[in-house]
Amino acid sequence: MLFDTHAHLCSSRFDKVRDELIESLADNGVANYCEIGFDIPSSIAAIELSDKYDFVYASAGVHPHETDALCPKDMDTIRELCAHSKVVALGEIGLDYYYDNSLRENQRKWFDCQLSVAEEISIPITVHSRDAMGDTIDILKAHPKARGIIHCYSGSVESAKILLDMGFYISFAGPITYKNASTALDVVRFVPENRMLIETDSPYLAPVPFRGKDNTPIYVAEIAKKIAQIKGLSFEEVSDITYNNAKRAYEIK
Ligand code: NI
Repeated sequence: MLFDTHAHLCSSRFDKVRDELIESLADNGVANYCEIGFDIPSSIAAIELSDKYDFVYASAGVHPHETDALCPKDMDTIRELCAHSKVVALGEIGLDYYYDNSLRENQRKWFDCQLSVAEEISIPITVHSRDAMGDTIDILKAHPKARGIIHCYSGSVESAKILLDMGFYISFAGPITYKNASTALDVVRFVPENRMLIETDSPYLAPVPFRGKDNTPIYVAEIAKKIAQIKGLSFEEVSDITYNNAKRAYEIK
């Protein structure tokens, strides 16, 4: 069975098919997935979905794109949302210097603040980092109790080593199936089996051979197949390993 550690099925792209899609996951080998919040409303929607479906988990937090709009009292809201029994991580939080949709200064400030909340309430985090690995690592280092997942990892082997040494799990998504993924495949080779995770980031980043379509958690199997090929494991082995890693990373009993 597979565990998609990162998807956004609350996206309006799934409005017509959401329940049907979620109800079809088990028959397609996907036992669990985590619905990831990226602002306050999507975090609330993620929690509602996790209340409706036993096998759906949720995260709550504010993505770097949305940080220009944050204010201090939002940290109280995030703290409250994270107290819900199905919320397994605070996130997605981090830095995105590729799109720069929020001022970098605000991205850094609210990444830091949300990390403080995660340490205070002792919950794993899920981190989004794009073209910002140096600052991401520097800010994470200021929060030694922070633990969790680097989602859709797109950095170097050297940065992966630092993050692994800090205790983080590395999650792989569709880009490892793309042509010219040589750095990503070096990272797949490098990450130890007990720290690798798989995800889709649905509806984005559909893996080959579905590239260009809306992604769904069903396609997480393509990520497992690619890892199996690179690491010389069977599909079943990668499924079992990443499933157990996901439960450990999200601290699911
Ligand atoms: Ni995401």
